[in-house]
Amino acid sequence: MTTLSTLKKFKKDGTKFTCLTCYDSMFARMMEKAEIDTILIGDSLGMVVQGHDSTLPVTVNDMAYHTANIARSNKHALILADLPFMSYVTLPEAVANSRQLMQSGAHVIKIEGGSELCDLITTLAQAGTPTCVHLGLTPQSVNVFGGYKIQGRGDEAADQLLADAKAVVAVGAALLVLECVPAELAKAVTEAVAVPVIGIGAGADTDGQVLVMHDMLGMAHGRVPRFIHDFLTDERNSAHSIEGAFALYQQSVREGSFPTEQHQFS
Ligand code: KIV
Repeated sequence: MTTLSTLKKFKKDGTKFTCLTCYDSMFARMMEKAEIDTILIGDSLGMVVQGHDSTLPVTVNDMAYHTANIARSNKHALILADLPFMSYVTLPEAVANSRQLMQSGAHVIKIEGGSELCDLITTLAQAGTPTCVHLGLTPQSVNVFGGYKIQGRGDEAADQLLADAKAVVAVGAALLVLECVPAELAKAVTEAVAVPVIGIGAGADTDGQVLVMHDMLGMAHGRVPRFIHDFLTDERNSAHSIEGAFALYQQSVREGSFPTEQHQFS
C-alpha cells in the first residue's frame, strides 16, 4: 500500500513514481495489478466521463461517487481526490466537502491555486487531512487564463509560481502537482521543496508523473497535447492490452524513459 511516507522515501531515493486518473472500479483493479503508485480521481471526469467542455460543472457528490468506486477496488495506490470548482471558497464549505471526499475513501485532497490556499491547508492539516496543491495550468481557472495555456513562462510568472509552491509547503501541503509549466521551472520547484512533486507536461525532473487515463490509452479528444504518450499502441505493449499499457507506463516512469524532451515545454 502506497502512503505519503512511501512517496517521501521515493523522493529521497530518486525513485520516480506514477499517478493516473481513474474514475471507475474496473480500471482501478487493473491499475492495482500494474502497481500504479497513486490514483487521482480528477475533476477531469467532467470532460472524459460526463462530456462537458471543462471541469467546472463537476460537483462534490460526483467526486464522492467516483472516489468511493476507486477506494473499493484498489488497495495498492494512494488515492487523491479533487475538490471541484467553487467547492472550497469558504473555509466551512471546504472543510465539509473535504470530509465528504475523505469519508468516501480519499487519502489526500487536491486543490488548485497558490498561497491564497494557506489557511485552508493549515485547517485541513490540523484536522488530519493532507492536501495536494495543483499549480501552473489549473483547469478550474480556465476562464481567468483565457484558455488552456502554458503557465510560469517569463521571470515574473516563474518567480510567483516558485513562491506559491514554497508558501503552501511551508504551511503543510503534502504534495504538489505542476501542470504545463516549463521543464526548467518544474525542476527548480521540485528541488526547492521537501515534498513530492507530480508533473504533467512539466518535464522529466519532477518526482512523479500523472496522466489522464483516457489520454494515455490514446483516447484524447481533439488536439493531442504534446505531453501525452499513447501507451496502448506503443509497440512495447506486446499484449496490446489496457493492463499492458498501465504496466508499460509504470515501467517507463520508473526507469526514466517517460517523459522525454518531446513531451516537455520550454
Ligand atoms: O483533474 C485532473 O485530471 C487533473 C490532472 C490533469 C492532474 O487535475
